[in-house]
Amino acid sequence: MLIRTRPGWELPESAVTPEKFYLNRRQLLAAAGFLGVEGLMADTAKRNPEFADATKLTPEFAATGYNNFYELHPTDKEKAKDLGDKFITEPWSFEVSGLVNKPKKYDLDDIRKRMPMEERIYRFRCVETWAMVVPWTGFPISQLIKEVEPKPNAKYLRFVTANRPDQFPGMKMAPFYPWPYHEGLRMDEAMNPLAMFVTGIYGKPLPKQNGAPLRVVTPWKYGYKSIKAIVKIEFTEKEPPTFWNKLQSSEYGFYSNVEPGKPHPRWSQANERLIPTGERQKTLQYNGYEKYVAGMYNGKEF
Ligand code: MTE
Repeated sequence: MLIRTRPGWELPESAVTPEKFYLNRRQLLAAAGFLGVEGLMADTAKRNPEFADATKLTPEFAATGYNNFYELHPTDKEKAKDLGDKFITEPWSFEVSGLVNKPKKYDLDDIRKRMPMEERIYRFRCVETWAMVVPWTGFPISQLIKEVEPKPNAKYLRFVTANRPDQFPGMKMAPFYPWPYHEGLRMDEAMNPLAMFVTGIYGKPLPKQNGAPLRVVTPWKYGYKSIKAIVKIEFTEKEPPTFWNKLQSSEYGFYSNVEPGKPHPRWSQANERLIPTGERQKTLQYNGYEKYVAGMYNGKEF
């Protein structure tokens, strides 16, 4: 992965829409009846007050315009948003299999209606040192895990992205990658209340470049653990292989927790750069989520 120090479109702070404006606009539109059924439905997820700190919220145009989704474009973060035309996200189903009592093929619309959807503002930190603050809509991964009843020997979850070279131009541009994109979590990590399945951002359905229609978000880990466009979840006994670890095992481990004191072999992880302003700040242990996740680790994880 390459670091780009200052993308050309980065704006000065003064040009960025403050979060209160985004909220007020939607609230005003809703009150005035300008949001149609879809707009109202998209807004029904209530913000969880525990994850409501919007002081440095990334403007929507930046979170949806600067993406790592290698299936759409393997190198250019600003092009991914324009390359999703062929990617079909509706209808969407995903399969849950492996060491569970109730394996099942899920219809995403169905699960969206049944699950306790909520909005959470999380910090999001990429291993490349850029960072954002994003309002995600979704539900805890633990809800789905409980439903399928893991067997006692299920220790890990393996997630797999759609494998669609005809819909994903990036797969053809970079045929040497170990497609489809795949990731994993240990069972206790997936059960952690912070770990989410996400179907929306900024009160709207997930745009394709952000991993529509279903992705993982684990805010205490580097962004590449947050796998997009999921079609398969398998419960396994052994630690599953992961995409980035296969590509460069000395640089990208299975755990990939945000740890400012553990430098990447090629750069420091002590600081981060907020998108789009470029403002630099100190990176926090577990990306600021220490109280929720530190108990799962002994500090030796990589
Ligand atoms: N999932 C898939 N399927 N393909 C990808 O290329 N990129 C990862 C992760 N999930 C990626 C993926 C990386 S490196 C990051 S930093 C985040 O998605 C970026 O998420 P965002 O574009 O919503 O910021």
